[in-house]
Amino acid sequence: MASKFARPALALVATPVLAALLVGAATSGGAATPGAPGAGDPYFPLSGNGGVDVAHYDLDLDYTPTTRRLEATAELAVTATQRLSSFNLDLSGLNVDSVRVDGRRAGFSRNGTELTITPARTLDKGRRFTVVIGYSGVPAHVYDPDGSPDGWIIQPDDSVFVASEPQGAMTWFPSNSHPTDKSTYDVEVTVPDGWTAVSNGRLRDQRHRAGKTTFSWREAKPMAAYLATASIGRFQVEQYVTADGLPVYNAVAPSQAAATKPVLDQLPAVIEWETKLFGRYPFEAAGAIVEDAPDVGYALETQTRPIYDRAPSIGTLVHETAHQWFGNSVSLTKWQDIWLNEGFATYAEWLWDAEHGGLSTAQQFAADYALPATDPLWSFPAADPGDGGHIFDKPPYERGAMVLEKLRRTVGDKAFFTILKTWATDRRYGHGDTRQFIALSKRISGKNLDSLFNTWLFTAGKPATP
Ligand code: ARG
Ligand code: ZN
Repeated sequence: MASKFARPALALVATPVLAALLVGAATSGGAATPGAPGAGDPYFPLSGNGGVDVAHYDLDLDYTPTTRRLEATAELAVTATQRLSSFNLDLSGLNVDSVRVDGRRAGFSRNGTELTITPARTLDKGRRFTVVIGYSGVPAHVYDPDGSPDGWIIQPDDSVFVASEPQGAMTWFPSNSHPTDKSTYDVEVTVPDGWTAVSNGRLRDQRHRAGKTTFSWREAKPMAAYLATASIGRFQVEQYVTADGLPVYNAVAPSQAAATKPVLDQLPAVIEWETKLFGRYPFEAAGAIVEDAPDVGYALETQTRPIYDRAPSIGTLVHETAHQWFGNSVSLTKWQDIWLNEGFATYAEWLWDAEHGGLSTAQQFAADYALPATDPLWSFPAADPGDGGHIFDKPPYERGAMVLEKLRRTVGDKAFFTILKTWATDRRYGHGDTRQFIALSKRISGKNLDSLFNTWLFTAGKPATP
């Protein structure tokens, strides 16, 4: 019979204890749990991570091209977005030598491309902390599902082509590698004399010591990890300041210099022309990295300073420069929306051609529309590549540009160019998704554009009418 009284007595004792526990948990953001291994992107489920937001990367790289060995330290300024017992970063290959969180030694383990870090103490939600990771080894690029090399891509002549879209950042630094997380960067690269290391933003310092040269770069505007570079070569370097005060740094492989010059000399004019169309240039530097890397097979809009696998055509220069507004300043929230990058950059090429003696945009559209229903252009709708293996196929680029030409015809030139400029301006340094672009187009034009976007962005097959 004692139990009849014992229960309420126990409850009386337990309640304040429980309440205290609950209050404690609530003020520190609930129970500490591990951060998710991915940012939740269905196309690249392990890219990025849950529970962490990186404000700044400070990368210190020492690289010897002839041995291909990298000795590096990465210092990350992170905010916990949940109460964390552990968290992940993305890292492929390489050896992790040490991990410290706020100066204290932290535990870590590796599983595929996931580096799991367990700090000595849990990290409350909202807490800012520093992670310092010492790592080393011979970096190896990965292959994307479309078969392209991605990341730290070493060339036969020992130069390095560093282009990381969509997932290669993890091949050269521990990162929260999804475009939802944008960060500022300090990248310092030490290479043997005679080699040049080129990253994003402004060159702050270049110094020689004991047969090595250290290049210190700073990207002061938010940047997605895939847009970071630290490319290394025996470059010819050209530096100047444009009439608008923008510092330009070009690094060109000698074998490409002659073919590159007439095109790259037009960079200030291209930036000026795109500024009129899209609004203020979003970054504090510009330039190009031109390598002799034909096996890479693509160029990338690395922030402020696109990288080319050969001397670019003017079309490619216009394309990668347009990405500075569309893709770099205004970033994706999921890879499925890649047409917001590639369709816009392709449409910039159409506009350039139209104003420089080439086809009009109507003629470009007509030429594309004339392609038979079996052409790869129609293999899937622009805003629905289906998986990560098709994001760089023809539809997001070419059909994406067709969507913009259709929009322009429907809303008129004035509303159309206001939409482009407003998109770039209102979302500068942030993000935008397809739904938001549709909403903006409707708001500015005052038109119902549902059937246009449904047909051209989301419906499989060749649309019945142009
Ligand atoms: N965004 C680049 C461009 O259109 C293409 C990158 C292709 N990357 C790849 N892994 N296939 O300029
Ligand atoms: Zn592109």
